[in-house]
Amino acid sequence: MKRRDFMKAVFLGSGIVFLASKAYPLKFYPNAGPGKWAILFGSLYGSTRDAALWISEGMGGISEVFDARENPDLSVFDNLIVGSGIYDGKVAPPLETFLAQNGAKISGKVRAIFVVCGAGGTEIANEYLDTIAKLCGSNPVVRKSFPGRMTKKLFDTEVLKHMEEYYKRVSSPFKDYDRLKRKDCLQFGEAILKQCSK
Ligand SMILES: Cc1cc2nc3c(=O)[nH]c(=O)nc-3n(C[C@H](O)[C@H](O)[C@H](O)COP(=O)(O)O)c2cc1C
Repeated sequence: MKRRDFMKAVFLGSGIVFLASKAYPLKFYPNAGPGKWAILFGSLYGSTRDAALWISEGMGGISEVFDARENPDLSVFDNLIVGSGIYDGKVAPPLETFLAQNGAKISGKVRAIFVVCGAGGTEIANEYLDTIAKLCGSNPVVRKSFPGRMTKKLFDTEVLKHMEEYYKRVSSPFKDYDRLKRKDCLQFGEAILKQCSK
């Protein structure tokens, strides 16, 4: 399958999820804190969601956490953190859609960005951070890439085939990995508050 067709399949797939269920049972109950903070994430397979919750935890639980598929109203928040998983060099389609519609409204409030991806922690991931920054219409200095997770049993047939072909092309074994570390996310949460209170 061509890359464009594949991304279309991923996009349509996530659209179906959106139509099928408007309830995303991810309510994180934060502590009251200074400034109103929210983390907005895009995730297809869950690792970026976990990173977002751990980042909030590292901030002392003062940040609400929203899945972009909820299409949240972020107008009540003063400070935002935006993060995404990466799929063929692109951010998660639900986040891309959200930012296309709301980027102008939130750009002045984005304090930090992050990505969770296979290339997390490497130079390549800096390009993904630039992509998010551009979509947010903002260029925060507080940014981080985290190595992510691959869980084959979460993939549908189409994605599985695409990934099998990719790993064959790059002559690497196609197998599950789990490199996201809660500790790194907690530290990033702390760092965000420290940098932003300067
Ligand atoms: C279809 C697909 C394409 C991917 N493309 C990239 C990529 O271009 N660059 C990268 O560094 N990681 C890539 N990854 C790895 C994911 O970014 C990584 O698994 C991440 O943890 C996924 O985030 P999520 O669990 O929040 O969806 C890809 C994974 C999948 C399933």
